[in-house]
Amino acid sequence: MPLRAHLSGIVGDAFASLGLDRGLGEVVPATRPEFGDFQCNGAMAAAKAAGRPPREIAAEIAEIVGRAPEVAAVDVAGPGFINLTVADHHLGSEVDALTRDERLGVPPTDRPETVVVDYGGPNVAKPMHVGHLRATIIGDSVARIFDFVGHRVIRDPHFGDWGLQMGMLIVELQRRRPDLPYFDPDFTGPYPEEPPVTLDDLQEMYPEVAARCADDPEWAAKARRATVELQQGRPGYRALWEHMVRVSQESQRRDFADLGVTFDVWYSESTVHDRVGPMIERLRRDGFAEESEGALIIRVDRPDDTREIPPLILVTTDGGYLYGTTDLATIEMRVQDMGARLILYVVDARQSDHFEQVFRAARKTGIAPADVGLEHIRFGTMNGPDGKPFKTREGGVVRLRDLIEMVTAAAERRLEEADIARDYRAEERSRIARQVGLAALKFGDLINNRVSDYVFDLDRFTSFEGKTGPYLQYGAVRIQSILRNAAARGMEPGPIVPPSVDAERTLMLWLTRLPDVVARALDLRAPNGVAEFAYDLTSVFNRFYERCHILGEEDPARRASWLSLVRLTLDELSLLLGLLGIDVPDRM
Ligand code: ARG
Repeated sequence: MPLRAHLSGIVGDAFASLGLDRGLGEVVPATRPEFGDFQCNGAMAAAKAAGRPPREIAAEIAEIVGRAPEVAAVDVAGPGFINLTVADHHLGSEVDALTRDERLGVPPTDRPETVVVDYGGPNVAKPMHVGHLRATIIGDSVARIFDFVGHRVIRDPHFGDWGLQMGMLIVELQRRRPDLPYFDPDFTGPYPEEPPVTLDDLQEMYPEVAARCADDPEWAAKARRATVELQQGRPGYRALWEHMVRVSQESQRRDFADLGVTFDVWYSESTVHDRVGPMIERLRRDGFAEESEGALIIRVDRPDDTREIPPLILVTTDGGYLYGTTDLATIEMRVQDMGARLILYVVDARQSDHFEQVFRAARKTGIAPADVGLEHIRFGTMNGPDGKPFKTREGGVVRLRDLIEMVTAAAERRLEEADIARDYRAEERSRIARQVGLAALKFGDLINNRVSDYVFDLDRFTSFEGKTGPYLQYGAVRIQSILRNAAARGMEPGPIVPPSVDAERTLMLWLTRLPDVVARALDLRAPNGVAEFAYDLTSVFNRFYERCHILGEEDPARRASWLSLVRLTLDELSLLLGLLGIDVPDRM
């Protein structure tokens, strides 16, 4: 059992022996080291219930807890805080157990569930850009955390391939090349194998046609009609659509691979197309869907709403399906076919209203039964130095590919400055630069509370000092080399002995905290606590390493114990970085 939970149990038993609630015994790490290792604030809450002064209760608890062999000292401070210091021998044996535990003290969940993580989500015809970065990085990390805890995770990017942008691209291509067989209703096939457009074409066509549709209602109507015809299966449009989806996804998959991100299923909006008809039929029959001004809608407003929640539009007046329609059918598929018990949507906070509508519709119609969780894991914007969404110097949208190039180049300069990896072969050097660049990008993002906006600061993110990905990577590589050096001299890790030095004791305490860090990240669906802890652990380790001269230590048992602390730190750090999707190079 994790150290904190074990001590909470001891203090909880003391509360129970006084006839008070056992839960009051919860201890937390002390806010300052002079207060001991842990503190319990339960006496204050107990005082109210028991009608006695909190200090009096605290003193009685302290008296009982002080008898436990795991506890070296207890005292009462201020209005009734109970401060605990763990006995050194107990701390030593706790950490020793961690060195033999593959899971480093983190218990697997006792209720594994199927969790769908929906993240990444690029749309056809649009190369991935900076807006997809956060969805991808945060989603990937959240998925890794759920996976590590023992849930069955299904990662799904939910590509956008079934909406109005498809109709727009169809009519735009028809305007440019009316002769193509895709537009000829009498053409009987087969359609050409070669795609009629490249991703660059699509990318150039999309903004142009989008602008024209915004200005000209006739074009907008045309695009909507083409979308409906596509959805209804017009063969030429389907054939063209397949080409467009393929060229887009090839490039998007490469972008994901560059980020070190992968998915378990590569589904998209259109995956559920065949379910949409039957779903709508049922919703109509059961009275959930109703006609309104020619469209088919589900009302999702509630009497206690403080702002207007518009209905979810299932079918437009032209007979087309929308973003929300496919999202609703996707929930049905995830619940019925994939067995999902929790669905996490890692998507920009600006889509909150959309998810509110979809979730309400799913609940109201029973598509999501009450025991299936639906959560919008929202996040803020990555801004430029001007505090506005990050743009190129010319004010354009930054492509993901270019962003990765940018951080890799910056990492290369940093490696040179810091004189790291100088005499490695060019190939290894550039691999390291890429790993460092990605670490900079990911850590710079994940260290922030996900709902806040943050500023992309290339200089700070790529620095080898401070709270950065490169600092942690370098830290991990250095720890690896300590172990290698020791091994080269025939020194091996051994059983942990009780601490003898403050810096060593502090490191041991920190090493026991991992289970809480992971549990909290899981609860909050937020990786920033993991990032923060990785940084703190590295700093605590560095102080230990400065203070304790491992290789020069004469006492072989202590030296072996210290080497075990080094290895455990490395294992925890690697795990933490792994949960953030950050690779550690073999050497630097
Ligand atoms: N394709 C959407 C976009 O670019 C994101 C998809 C999010 N997931 C979902 N199930 N709606 O905004």
